[in-house]
Amino acid sequence: MKILLAALALSAAGGACALDIHLPPETATYKPSELPGYQLVQRNCMTCHAAQYASTQPPASPRAYWEATVKKMKKPFGAQFDDADMPAMVDYLVKTYGAERGAAAAGAAIAKPVAAAVPAAGGKDVKSLLAANGCMACHALDQKVVGPGFAEVAARYKGKDGIAAVAANIRSGGAGKWGPVPMPPFSQLSAADAATLAKYVLNR
Ligand code: HEC
Ligand code: HEC
Repeated sequence: MKILLAALALSAAGGACALDIHLPPETATYKPSELPGYQLVQRNCMTCHAAQYASTQPPASPRAYWEATVKKMKKPFGAQFDDADMPAMVDYLVKTYGAERGAAAAGAAIAKPVAAAVPAAGGKDVKSLLAANGCMACHALDQKVVGPGFAEVAARYKGKDGIAAVAANIRSGGAGKWGPVPMPPFSQLSAADAATLAKYVLNR
């Protein structure tokens, strides 16, 4: 999956219509939710494959199915996460992709970014910006996926006032700062929204 995303990134940067190419956030990334398992799944489940595998499971899959699936990722597949993270991840998965979806109306509402947005003063909130732009298809908080982990970016800019520079980099995309794989440009973001995202990244 990493390779596929990298290929998409390359074609996005090289194509004439870079701005029209969006990774579909509802399939490549996990659906945003207030459930604590959402953060855990982003941290623990994006290293080997994107969220497609979860979103293509039969919608009637019960909790026990998700328990077995998550266990299987650890053994035999070798995912590295704490056993203590399992219940919350299973809870998020069954309420977001499985049989208990009705119980997660709140999570579903958040997945519709603009409607459920709780706007920060003067702009859109970070969660809906991240979801609407598919940022988490390529980024995680604590580790490299296609692009650098946000904590790593924050560490590099620590002690510097990097918000303007990072906001500019988000809007322009580009390659070479972290590796050869380019980030597509997000020039459709307003300056205020790019600054909101930059602030969020630098506070990781
Ligand atoms: C160490 C790598 C790795 C990690 C981390 C990982 N997976 Fe997987 N996942 C796999 C492999 C390998 C497969 C099987 C792929 C195939 O069948 O081609 C898979 C398949 C799946 C499937 C498809 C159903 C199935 O049983 O094959 C789902 C759903 C899934 N993963 C969810 C998750 C979730 C949720 C997490 C986080 C808890 C996660 N994965 C973390 C490697 C991983
Ligand atoms: C298609 C994959 C992809 C998507 C989608 C993506 N990024 Fe990136 N991002 C990357 C890559 C790759 C890099 C490293 C680029 C480099 O080496 O210069 C990067 C770098 C960054 C950086 C570091 C910039 C710096 O100043 O060093 C930030 C911050 C960032 N991305 C935020 C975001 C945000 C916010 C979004 C959503 C609006 C997003 N990214 C969407 C792949 C992506």
